[in-house]
Amino acid sequence: MSQQESIAVNASVRLDAVNESHIPALHQLVMKNRMWLSESMNWPLLVNSEQDTRQFVLGNIMLHQRGIAKMFMIFQGDELVGVLSFNQIEPANKTGYIGYWLDEAAQGRGILSASLQAFIHYFVESGDIRRFVIKCRVDNARSNQVALRNGFALEGCLKQAEFLNGVYYDQNIYARIIDKSSQ
Ligand SMILES: CC(C)(COP(=O)(O)OP(=O)(O)OC[C@H]1O[C@@H](n2cnc3c(N)ncnc32)[C@H](O)[C@@H]1OP(=O)(O)O)[C@@H](O)C(=O)NCCC(=O)NCCS
Repeated sequence: MSQQESIAVNASVRLDAVNESHIPALHQLVMKNRMWLSESMNWPLLVNSEQDTRQFVLGNIMLHQRGIAKMFMIFQGDELVGVLSFNQIEPANKTGYIGYWLDEAAQGRGILSASLQAFIHYFVESGDIRRFVIKCRVDNARSNQVALRNGFALEGCLKQAEFLNGVYYDQNIYARIIDKSSQ
């Protein structure tokens, strides 16, 4: 059922729950952005063959169905331009940990922020999530800007919490809390 899940963002952008048909385009997008993405995340360098992407997607489809992670493809028109996910959900706490990335060429147009607003609204309305969390490296300026631009409050700094390219980096933790009734 969740495989058909889709969130309308605006006239040109939508979020589709990941399914097997996305694997070839997702793999191409990862490979195109592999070196750039590896500056901010550790997993891209672990992706080599389409089989790696397939295994990742199949794992995420299962987690999506079980409600402990949610992975959505960001489409602009027919073009896959990025990914927006709950990397982890704590159902009992109604808390979701958000992750995202775009095609480098799709940056700077507000696509991620518009997607994030629709994503948050959708999960508040579902009643499943009330605490939305973004954790990002202190020196990932664009990701910090995403949190600030979208109404997240800085809650603190986690020391040496992210191991990336051989270094332990400090992470900012941001959250936005929205009760369905307060919308
Ligand atoms: C983090 C990332 C998704 C941010 O992408 P982004 O395009 O800057 O994010 P937004 O959707 O918020 O867009 C904001 C940009 O669009 C511009 N913009 C244009 N129209 C806009 C609109 N209607 N609304 C908001 N911003 C708009 C803004 O001015 C801003 O550009 P600027 O920073 O050059 O001024 C992207 O840099 C990325 O994929 N980075 C690599 C992966 C990564 O770091 N992921 C996060 C790990 S924690």
